[in-house]
Amino acid sequence: MKDYVATIIKNEQIAENVYAVTFDLGEEAKVRCGQFGNISVGETHLLRRPIAICKAEGNEVTFCYQIKGEGTQKLKTMGAGTKLNVLMPLGNGFYVEEEEKKVALVGGGVGVFPLISVLRAYASTKEISAYIGYRNKAAVCGVEEFAKAQKFLLVTDDGSYGSQMNAVQAFEADLAKGNRPDVVLACGPTPMLRALKTLVERENLNCYVSLEERMGCGIGACLVCVCNMTDGKRARVCKDGPVFNSRDVSL
Ligand SMILES: Cc1cc2nc3c(=O)[nH]c(=O)nc-3n(C[C@H](O)[C@H](O)[C@H](O)COP(=O)(O)OP(=O)(O)OC[C@H]3O[C@@H](n4cnc5c(N)ncnc54)[C@H](O)[C@@H]3O)c2cc1C
Ligand code: FES
Repeated sequence: MKDYVATIIKNEQIAENVYAVTFDLGEEAKVRCGQFGNISVGETHLLRRPIAICKAEGNEVTFCYQIKGEGTQKLKTMGAGTKLNVLMPLGNGFYVEEEEKKVALVGGGVGVFPLISVLRAYASTKEISAYIGYRNKAAVCGVEEFAKAQKFLLVTDDGSYGSQMNAVQAFEADLAKGNRPDVVLACGPTPMLRALKTLVERENLNCYVSLEERMGCGIGACLVCVCNMTDGKRARVCKDGPVFNSRDVSL
């Protein structure tokens, strides 16, 4: 992990309210899929913004972000040449075991972005099925990446692109046809992950979920990001996660 002084190479809109920013870190960073960066948006905002690493190639790293509040509004105005502090890579990330050959990716909303990094890491060695949900057609992005999966089911909440259902329903429908993965990797809004946890527990599937919590330091020191575990203990999403076995976390 390092606090890079990173230079924006490009920062452009990729869907309604969604931007992709690519930085030059000045050196290559060793990144595991599912890890994230804590991006400073300038001195006016003390807290950094945690964003999943979507793509890391050579000295370049790309983050995709949805405009939410002040920080992301500010980030979207920054052009090529702007220098920002980016602390990365943070968190544990996703890991697929050697014997797990069939991988299901289940993603919704901004949760689709870390799954792009998983696809890039494992596309050549695993059989990947991607069940990806967006709010509507205008929110759709990353299609060219997910199209590299052996199977890609794109769905929307309102049916304006693909079938009208959410990513968990798309996964459940495929499971019912006998398409059973060795492991499920997921990221998305908490209600989506809660529905997935119920499904995988019923189906006795191994599943890892990447959680989103408000963060301060991003490195395990401030305890802003703690979540509840099923054994009654608490864990730091930034340092112990953001990826947890779905059995271990209370959602
Ligand atoms: C591990 C991780 C990975 C993430 N990956 C992505 C991603 O790839 N793309 C993406 O669009 N978003 C992602 N998010 C959510 C993103 O961090 C928030 O949308 C963003 O911080 C909002 O900042 P803001 O200043 O625009 O909003 P504001 O609401 O003005 O933010 C105020 C404060 O709350 C924090 N905050 C607000 N919403 C969230 C949230 N959902 N999660 C964590 N902190 C929040 C901000 O960091 C800031 O400190 C991720 C969050 C986490 C924890
Ligand atoms: S954000 Fe500080 S401990 Fe997780």
